[in-house]
Amino acid sequence: MTRHLRMDEPQARLLDETGQGVLSTPLPRPEGPLKVTGRARYAAEVTMPDMAVGVLVRATIPAGRVTGMNTSEVMAMPGVLGVWHGGKMLRNPAQGTANAAPVQPGDKVAYYGQPIAVVVAETFEDARAAGQALKIAYAPSNAEPDPDTAATVETAEGLDQGDLEAAMDSAAYSIDAAYTTPGHSSAPMEPHAALAAWEGDNLVVHGSYQMLKYNVNELADSLGIPPENVRIHAPYVGGGFGSKLGIAPEAVAASIASKELGRPVRVAMARQDVFEMTMRRSETRQRVRLAAGVDGVLTGLGHEDRVSNLPGESFAEPTVQATHFLYGGENRRYVQEIARVNRTCAGSVRAPGEAVGMLALENAMDELAEAMHVDPVDLRLRNIPDTHPESGVPYSARSLAECLRDGAERFGWSERGLPGERREGEWLIGMGVASAARANFIMESEARVTLNPDGTALVETDMTDIGTGSYAILGQIAAEMLGLPMDKVKVDLGDSAMPPASGSGGSFGAASAGSSVYLAAQEIRAEIARKLDCADDDLTLRDGNAVADNRKTALTELIDAPMVGHGHLEPGKTAESHSQAGYGAHFSEVAVNEVTGEVRVRRMLSAFAVGRVLNQRTATSQGHGGMIWGIGTALTEELQHDPRDGRIVNRDLAEYHVPVNLDVPDLDVMLIEERDDESSPIQAKGIGELGLSGVGAAITNAIYNACGVRVRDYPATPDKIL
Ligand code: MOS
Repeated sequence: MTRHLRMDEPQARLLDETGQGVLSTPLPRPEGPLKVTGRARYAAEVTMPDMAVGVLVRATIPAGRVTGMNTSEVMAMPGVLGVWHGGKMLRNPAQGTANAAPVQPGDKVAYYGQPIAVVVAETFEDARAAGQALKIAYAPSNAEPDPDTAATVETAEGLDQGDLEAAMDSAAYSIDAAYTTPGHSSAPMEPHAALAAWEGDNLVVHGSYQMLKYNVNELADSLGIPPENVRIHAPYVGGGFGSKLGIAPEAVAASIASKELGRPVRVAMARQDVFEMTMRRSETRQRVRLAAGVDGVLTGLGHEDRVSNLPGESFAEPTVQATHFLYGGENRRYVQEIARVNRTCAGSVRAPGEAVGMLALENAMDELAEAMHVDPVDLRLRNIPDTHPESGVPYSARSLAECLRDGAERFGWSERGLPGERREGEWLIGMGVASAARANFIMESEARVTLNPDGTALVETDMTDIGTGSYAILGQIAAEMLGLPMDKVKVDLGDSAMPPASGSGGSFGAASAGSSVYLAAQEIRAEIARKLDCADDDLTLRDGNAVADNRKTALTELIDAPMVGHGHLEPGKTAESHSQAGYGAHFSEVAVNEVTGEVRVRRMLSAFAVGRVLNQRTATSQGHGGMIWGIGTALTEELQHDPRDGRIVNRDLAEYHVPVNLDVPDLDVMLIEERDDESSPIQAKGIGELGLSGVGAAITNAIYNACGVRVRDYPATPDKIL
């Protein structure tokens, strides 16, 4: 039996009436012990008998064509089994697979660091030595490594509503400021890896990916085989942040080499490969204009930006994504420029759009508050619109005001002074605030739930857990719906042979996959109700028992054969009828050293409203992750491109500075519960990326409050503060 639901159909919402009491509780991850004891095998740890090992070789020019390589010399080296390159190694995934890392057809080079060849040998050491010995000859062509001077710049009109120029001219207060943000790397802890093996025409890949349903199609497209012949296993994924949304070159390379050699081949990326070959977040140049009346209410809002990508790529960082709906102002204008450059492909990196667009917008709001001598929390409260300022549609649950007010209260915001006022020796202390907002998405998702005669349940879907807590929350939803203690529920994920889920991306995973598990469990509840001859509504399932008409029956006695429920969530029209987003408020306190310009984040608090909270612990942890990214975004993270050839110079974790433990103070997360009826059947919204949206601006705004220096060029390194 399958329960289908389109989001705009009437929904029964049971989760507040079931009484098992496991949903939302801060249960630890069921797979946690496997991870911390090394028993959870990640892609690069899977081995197979007779396995060969490949390494990827990267381009050392930014633009041109490969004209040859010393293949026969390399083939003669110890243990070397094969060299594949160009069109043969990496075919272009078909159209419509925008998530897949781009592969330039044939032997064309479009960026420095592009994968050119895979060298396969008996051992990793042999493969690496051979890869280093592979000499590639090129016919270089003119490169455009710099988005500021690129010859080709495309312009996309975002919106031109009302008359922003007039609003700026007649504003009581206005801000017109430029902000820049650097490129970012997803830098997941687990580098990308794939082990490919063929049985006849069937390919099995053990890899590290976020969205298996799509990844199967992308890999099949790349290899020119039917998707039915591809199976991907990704039970554990050590962070994705966008870089594993689509297949990457290691999967294609391993699959081709494995087919040709007739034995399993593993290709794992080195850390430098991850930086150079997986998608980067584009640098941005932004201009924000704010026009406000004497009351501080916005009358106009302009947000223009320039981002970059390779020629022909359709993705452009959606910088103004939150600008569309966060604040009011009837005169609005957005324009985006996309510079075509020879740099590593730009794509989705955690919270694409908001993560950098809100650095500018929320910094500008702080500038407006400063200009008006209004409290920045108060300014934001004054500008929460009644309906969507462009489309006029209503908002679904939106507890932005509560987040700002309750967060300010708990943080001790009233202690905030004026720039230079609070000092401890050579340290100046300041506080900053920023709103958080991240558009909410929902994706088609399927799951199968089986209730066994022994009173246990099994949840199966190809959903991934990229460190986010999918194993925990999907088990909790099933346990809650079926009235089972958590230890009676097993969750199997990350195998593309199981019912296709949304995958993990865009913060849609928990609500989408969770809703499909909810629907599957509803199907089982209906079957139990039929068996007991009671109405669905009169059935209570708790602690392994079914209660109806004052009769209690143990599920183990009631069920003699496995009951299987299939849930299928399809996104409907609510995405258009309501503006849906997760909201929050970030607060930070920093100390700025007036001698060295060093900034230490002393404490942070973020309040989030994300609909139903499915697990207090994993939700809080998602908040922490976003806030830590925010510290990096504000203070340290920056891809450095060589101006001559666009290459990423700081392509490892020693030079690309993500925050480490000493950079991260106590983080306080407040979860403000909502029921968002439009967001998903389980009334939950995305949380992962919300934590990152806006947070960096709370830190730079705190720097201003500490020392009076307004940093508009991220990150706020000491040279920009002194
Ligand atoms: Mo996300 S950038 O959709 O993993």
